[in-house]
Amino acid sequence: MTEAFLPFTRPSIDDETLAGVVDVLRSGWITSGPRVAELEEALASRFGPARRVLCYAHATGALEESLRAIGVGPGDEVIVPAMTFAASANVILRVGATPVFVDVELTTRNLAAHAVAAALSPRTRAIMPVHFSGLPVDLDALHALARRHHLIVVEDAAHAIGARYRGREIGSFGDLACFSFHANKNMTTIEGAAISLPAGQSGWIDRLERLRFHGLRKAEDGSYDVELAAGKHNLSDVAARVGLGQLKRLDEFNRRRGELAGYYFDRLESNPWGLVLPERGDMGHAWHMFTVLVPFETLGFERRQLQERMRAHGIGIGMHYPALPPLSLYRSLCDWHPGQFPNAERIGRETVTLPLFPAMTEADVDRVCRVLGEVLGGASA
Ligand SMILES: Cc1ncc(COP(=O)(O)O)c(C=O)c1O
Repeated sequence: MTEAFLPFTRPSIDDETLAGVVDVLRSGWITSGPRVAELEEALASRFGPARRVLCYAHATGALEESLRAIGVGPGDEVIVPAMTFAASANVILRVGATPVFVDVELTTRNLAAHAVAAALSPRTRAIMPVHFSGLPVDLDALHALARRHHLIVVEDAAHAIGARYRGREIGSFGDLACFSFHANKNMTTIEGAAISLPAGQSGWIDRLERLRFHGLRKAEDGSYDVELAAGKHNLSDVAARVGLGQLKRLDEFNRRRGELAGYYFDRLESNPWGLVLPERGDMGHAWHMFTVLVPFETLGFERRQLQERMRAHGIGIGMHYPALPPLSLYRSLCDWHPGQFPNAERIGRETVTLPLFPAMTEADVDRVCRVLGEVLGGASA
């Protein structure tokens, strides 16, 4: 009997959520409305009374408009990791500012504050760290640096819903944190996002509301004025209803992700192939992904071959992410030369994302590790 295909990620959407979605579809109000408000309130109550939450259509838009809302624009520089998804750097370019790439650490895959400090210039306006794969960056150190230099920290928390830093949930403190609810994230609205920011930052909140929907400001009599040539980033009620069902189960999902990551550590920690495992972190890791570095060059093997052979055994693996500076759009921004961002470049060459999603079993992890071992063992034979 051939085993079922195991993708590297798959959402878990339960029957109660599906029924709720049908109710919304039948209600006659399917775009932004009461369900979006409910999701924003549910997230805000998770993060505490000092926070306000705005849902957006995707984290790409949420990050871009967060930069606009805090006043980042032409002539400004924003610090961003050299290894992240393209969205993290593109949003900086889209507001007319310049991304300044900083190398990440090899095992956390995150920015370290001392490396950020070395990249600051008089034009730096913001730091945009990524909590890679759900492992929080050292926010205390980044916030201290930001305070000293009057910078704003916009957290790219696309991977980090439910993650905790030193006991506090990501999104419950700090300047702005943007979560993605894309289909492969720890909770999904299919496509979608949320921004968490201080409830007292009324100027930022006001701009983010206008930037989300055509720059409109509504008056009490139902008329409106247009104040900004803004785009459109609103989330639909159908999507928000999916998110409400997901949010209820987020802690359960993340606990399961943590258990599955633990099974990977048990099986891969002492391995003969020189795999570099991710940092375990403390209990706060959201385990959005489990990424390992495979020394392909030493093994005389290519990632594409690993991908093909795993797929032939019914297992999907991912690749998160190539280093950004060598890519066409970014090269000239930093006069990139090979070796300039050693960790990001190595991660880009060697990273492999193993399957990790809440519906997986321990036997699935066994299967992934067994097949990985067979393929890598065969490679070096
Ligand atoms: C680090 C990071 N930032 C931003 C995004 C953009 O998220 P979205 O797909 O919700 O626009 C992603 C998407 O995967 C991401 O991984």
